[in-house]
Amino acid sequence: MEKPMIFRDYLYREKQKGEISGEMVSLMGGLSVACKRISHDVSQGALIGTLGSAGTENVQGEIQKELDIIANDVMMESLLWTERVRAVASEEMDDVEQLSVGKGDYLLVFDPLDGSSNIDVNISVGTIFSVLRSPEGVDAPAKEDFMQPGTEQVAAGYVVYGTSTIMVLTLGNEVNGFTLDRDIGAFVLTHPDMRIPEETNEFSINASNSLSWEPAVTRYIGECVQGENGPLGKKFNMRWVGSMVADVHRLMYRGGIFLYPKDPTNKKKPGKLRLLYEANPISFLVEQAGGLSSTGYGRLMEVQPVDLHERVPVIMGSKVEVERVVGYHSE
Ligand code: AHG
Ligand code: MN
Ligand code: MN
Repeated sequence: MEKPMIFRDYLYREKQKGEISGEMVSLMGGLSVACKRISHDVSQGALIGTLGSAGTENVQGEIQKELDIIANDVMMESLLWTERVRAVASEEMDDVEQLSVGKGDYLLVFDPLDGSSNIDVNISVGTIFSVLRSPEGVDAPAKEDFMQPGTEQVAAGYVVYGTSTIMVLTLGNEVNGFTLDRDIGAFVLTHPDMRIPEETNEFSINASNSLSWEPAVTRYIGECVQGENGPLGKKFNMRWVGSMVADVHRLMYRGGIFLYPKDPTNKKKPGKLRLLYEANPISFLVEQAGGLSSTGYGRLMEVQPVDLHERVPVIMGSKVEVERVVGYHSE
């Protein structure tokens, strides 16, 4: 039997091929350690008393869970030691924080725990991250240095803490999945070159928001639920976990369309998901796996960010269905 490739060997192979730098190898090493530690903490559930609310709010006015804060701290500590990340931005921190001033080639943006409302009920949660280049000549990067569109990402990934822990990563050339082997304490390449099927009959949307959808989305979902006799001519299935990582991970395997569309009735919130640390990294993975990601009005990764915590409408997944919904927006 062929020896399974562990994450570290994969990174060295990519470095030898000239795909990534030595700095990226160390950064990814630190990130993978952080995710192993978060995986452990999440799996302890009620045993270590970290479920429930921390009694604080983040800058977006959302109640922080204990584990949101723990996961954020774990990310910060693990990255500090690598000295490869000059500055970071996170869902759980109001502003940019300096990490290795004057050192490190990269900026990191992350959602330490995605889907955290699911923690208390033992449903999959995850971590999402996006790696950007630290602009040359800037020792202590500020917010403006993070205002890079998704097309500038060097690497991106997510980890799902589910029935197993899996990290799905792109370094800009393909998408690979690494399952955490707890016995040896290493991520192992189990899902090489992941590809999203172009066609699908599965959609993922929070239908309780249907009164505030735009007409294009109302039309599309209306057509999906009409099944074989409707205009799309096939029976659709619906799934909504409520953790973006889990909903997107499902479509990475078997195809699907995931929508958190624009709410035209809410001027302050043009969508729910955050551009820099949720929508951009997941879009990068989806595109690298052969899918599409749009705001409904254009390629999501081309949106020029103006704020660290800004939100964006998201329509992503299997090519044929994303193209269809985007087409409805332009009609
Ligand atoms: P977070 O826990 O990081 O704040 O993100 C939650 C997000 C995303 O993971 C998920 O798709 C969406 O919120 C769920 O929204 P609903 O509450 O509308 O289901
Ligand atoms: Mn999130
Ligand atoms: Mn989160």
